[in-house]
Amino acid sequence: MNSYQIAKKLKNRYLPNNIDFSLANRRHSFLSECIIPTDIVALSGKGATLKTNKGELIDFASMTVNCILGQNDPWVNANLIAYLLSGRPSFLTTRVGHDYYYKVADRICKTTKMTNSVINHRQCNGTDVTELAILAAYKHRQNGQHILASFSNSYHGQGLTAYLASGLQRKHLFLVHESPVVFLDEPDHTEDIDTQDLTEHDKNTLEKLYDIRDKVFAVIIEPIQVNNSVNTSSKAFLKRLKYVCESSKIALIFDEIQTGFGWLGKITAAERYGVWPNLMALSKALTAGNGPLSALVSDKIYQDIVEGTGAKTNGADIRSLVAANAVMDRLLGIPEQQIPSDIDEDLYKELRSGLLSQFDQKCHQLLLYLKDLQSLGKGLIGKIKGDGLIRGLEIVNAKGVNDALMAKKLQLQLLESGVLVRQNQHTLIFKPPIVITEKEMAKGFGKIQKIISSNL
Ligand SMILES: Cc1ncc(COP(=O)(O)O)c(C=O)c1O
Repeated sequence: MNSYQIAKKLKNRYLPNNIDFSLANRRHSFLSECIIPTDIVALSGKGATLKTNKGELIDFASMTVNCILGQNDPWVNANLIAYLLSGRPSFLTTRVGHDYYYKVADRICKTTKMTNSVINHRQCNGTDVTELAILAAYKHRQNGQHILASFSNSYHGQGLTAYLASGLQRKHLFLVHESPVVFLDEPDHTEDIDTQDLTEHDKNTLEKLYDIRDKVFAVIIEPIQVNNSVNTSSKAFLKRLKYVCESSKIALIFDEIQTGFGWLGKITAAERYGVWPNLMALSKALTAGNGPLSALVSDKIYQDIVEGTGAKTNGADIRSLVAANAVMDRLLGIPEQQIPSDIDEDLYKELRSGLLSQFDQKCHQLLLYLKDLQSLGKGLIGKIKGDGLIRGLEIVNAKGVNDALMAKKLQLQLLESGVLVRQNQHTLIFKPPIVITEKEMAKGFGKIQKIISSNL
């Protein structure tokens, strides 16, 4: 029997009405320090909407793993099913080649517009790939360069290197007692990415970097610090940063784990800002939640990594590569002759033009809703931060002071009412999938308005 024939027999196994809800009572066996699943149990999902045992949940957070295509994207699912049924290998050691190794690597290099790049893709997470980026820059360092420059309140994951390199994670550092990391002040938040003006504060930060330039082998930065209340760098800052790095032979690393793959209307923040790093770390957004994969994209000279440091055993899961390829199809579109002619008309059109072509409209719509919310919530809602589909809504108290407790309270109330947003410090984070429909936006923001009004 082949997989297709067996799958037909398993149809009932995954039906929502076969879910054992009593299992939800065991959720307290999760470590108390981890994020414990609530008693909301997901039954099914489509786009930005989850059906749960407590009713509908509109996902304005893309499940936090950068599911830019929401749930069950039909094209990604179809490609995965077709691949699974093809009989081709499901997993390979990287010592055995596969056309998708080359095809996807090549496509990621092209779509990220990182010229002359190579790619190290692996079945792992964001923490691993930022470490790999730092390692690659370190191996390539010049004489006398031993410092890694990072930024205060940065977040690069949960591993030893990430604890060293992240402003927010230093409190977790263990085993290592001396640190070669210098933390520069986080970039000034800008309301307008495209501003040409460098603030005094940013000028001083760059001067500090300039003063130690001979000792620095790399600078690692998130163009938008999502985990720092969506602190958004300006183009002026990133351009000058690039200039300082280039003129001092310092490797510039962009951690694009939050910003990469469509969230700012372009494939990368680098493209949105018009500033390209030497090394770009991409991760979970590559497959939009359809399998583990990360990619370090950089000039070849950085990737002559010593054996045993850069090529982990896990290589890349072929199914994740198939998913990443289908995600690129969705975002960028594909030639008409590659689209099956007898598919759903809307999907056909989207595949022809790519979802990024609808980005401005989606982004505009989101901003309008957030502005409405801001007017409604005067005294409770402060600034709207971020760019594109990555937005933060600051929550303040009656004195206008940032209010993290209130932000947490609002997030929980929103979850109860059927809306998922993320909360970070005093900020509610909105990162809706690009496939969110007008109806979903209207429904979700209707619920948010009610919760905001009831807290005024
Ligand atoms: C900017 C940034 N870098 C690195 C990471 C680490 O990724 P992971 O949790 O997959 O290890 C994250 C996780 O959210 C992140 O937001």
